[in-house]
Amino acid sequence: MIFLVALVLTACALTSRVDCATEGIVWCYHLPTCNDTKWATIAPKYCGGSRQSPININTTAAKEDVNLTEFTFTDFSSTTAQKTLENTGKTVKVTFASGVQISGGGLSEAYDSLQFHLHWGNGPSIPGSEHTVDGKRYPMEMHFVNLKSSYNGNLSQALGDSTGLAALGFFIEEMSGNATGEPASWKSLASYLTNITNKGQTLTLPSGISLDDLLVGVNRAKYYRYLGSLTTPACNEAVVWTVFKEPIKVSKDLINLFSNTVHVNDSSSPLITNVYRQIQPDQPVTTQAESSASTTCYSLGLMVLSLALWKNL
Ligand SMILES: *[C@@H]1O[C@H](CO)[C@@H](O)[C@H](O)[C@H]1NC(C)=O
Ligand SMILES: *[C@@H]1O[C@H](CO)[C@@H](O)[C@H](O)[C@H]1NC(C)=O
Ligand SMILES: *[C@@H]1O[C@H](CO)[C@@H](O)[C@H](O)[C@H]1NC(C)=O
Ligand SMILES: *[C@@H]1O[C@H](CO)[C@@H](O)[C@H](O)[C@H]1NC(C)=O
Ligand SMILES: *[C@@H]1O[C@H](CO)[C@@H](O)[C@H](O)[C@H]1NC(C)=O
Ligand SMILES: *[C@@H]1O[C@H](CO)[C@@H](O)[C@H](O)[C@H]1NC(C)=O
Ligand SMILES: *[C@@H]1O[C@H](CO)[C@@H](O)[C@H](O)[C@H]1NC(C)=O
Repeated sequence: MIFLVALVLTACALTSRVDCATEGIVWCYHLPTCNDTKWATIAPKYCGGSRQSPININTTAAKEDVNLTEFTFTDFSSTTAQKTLENTGKTVKVTFASGVQISGGGLSEAYDSLQFHLHWGNGPSIPGSEHTVDGKRYPMEMHFVNLKSSYNGNLSQALGDSTGLAALGFFIEEMSGNATGEPASWKSLASYLTNITNKGQTLTLPSGISLDDLLVGVNRAKYYRYLGSLTTPACNEAVVWTVFKEPIKVSKDLINLFSNTVHVNDSSSPLITNVYRQIQPDQPVTTQAESSASTTCYSLGLMVLSLALWKNL
């Protein structure tokens, strides 16, 4: 999901007052009265739609698309791109300086990168990624929210466009071995959680860590693509999804900090845990063409041919 509190408000501005009354909505993950089983009732306009996220990605069903080329990531190497960290009561969110952008990747134009936030489960035993891959759920998932550059930051325009937003999903997997506090970029990010234990608390991030640092070890040329929605109310069906195949590896102690430190409201309220939406019905998924795979086939073919020739001699 995409967590933009502002999105709900903007969606309201677009719709009637009546819709707003229901969409200025109280939704949650942790109470039976407002958890995701209720979203289609609370926010029926889109949450009950037919192009909803997240989904399970069936890797054998993903079709190759030659148009899914590599992305260009602008300012992802900047150590001042990350501005603020906030406890929204539903997640922790990092907002970006202007100038951060993505383009390429089969997108129709450049998109401005606004923020990332995270989804997680509960401690070591309950994974909480939103997308699953062939049924596998990862411990966490990181979502970058990007808005078509031509809309100049106007969310209501983006929400009115079936590809107005582009979301990038990165899985987070537990690092093998007994490492703690790794990688350093995630140790740094997680170290600030104690400063934002309560909903609404924010912190100005010191410079020093880039977005590339957080995406350490991931081959960003390998991804899945489908058309879906925001994964939180109002669930607008305005999102081009990119889900990267390779996970970011983070040590277990740091993964655990997310479900152990931040609260849904103040310190007397529950910890923020299990912040992911249940899987929605399948959508057609594509993936970038495996040029390396075709090269391998070709050379295997050549090898068979030369063996055959050699035998004939
Ligand atoms: C969500 O609420 C429903 C009832 O509305 C309940 O059956 C279910 O257990 C709840 N799920 C979670 C994860 O709390
Ligand atoms: C995954 O896709 C393959 C190929 O289309 C299909 O045979 C299989 O049943 C699908 N698996 C699931 C769990 O949907
Ligand atoms: C790739 O892009 C071309 C040119 O826009 C388009 O004609 C073609 O249908 C696209 N291919 C796929 C598989 O979407
Ligand atoms: C955003 O776009 C909508 C629709 O075009 C327009 O009504 C609104 O004034 C714009 N908002 C801002 C802040 O520019
Ligand atoms: C992890 O720690 C355990 C207990 O201290 C030890 O037995 C094991 O060999 C360690 N594993 C690695 C990969 O270092
Ligand atoms: C986080 O809180 C600690 C302890 O209160 C404080 O020393 C530190 O300056 C805070 N960090 C930031 C970046 O505000
Ligand atoms: C959230 O915390 C604030 C500050 O402690 C408190 O005033 C408010 O009543 C709490 N809200 C809920 C819904 O518990």
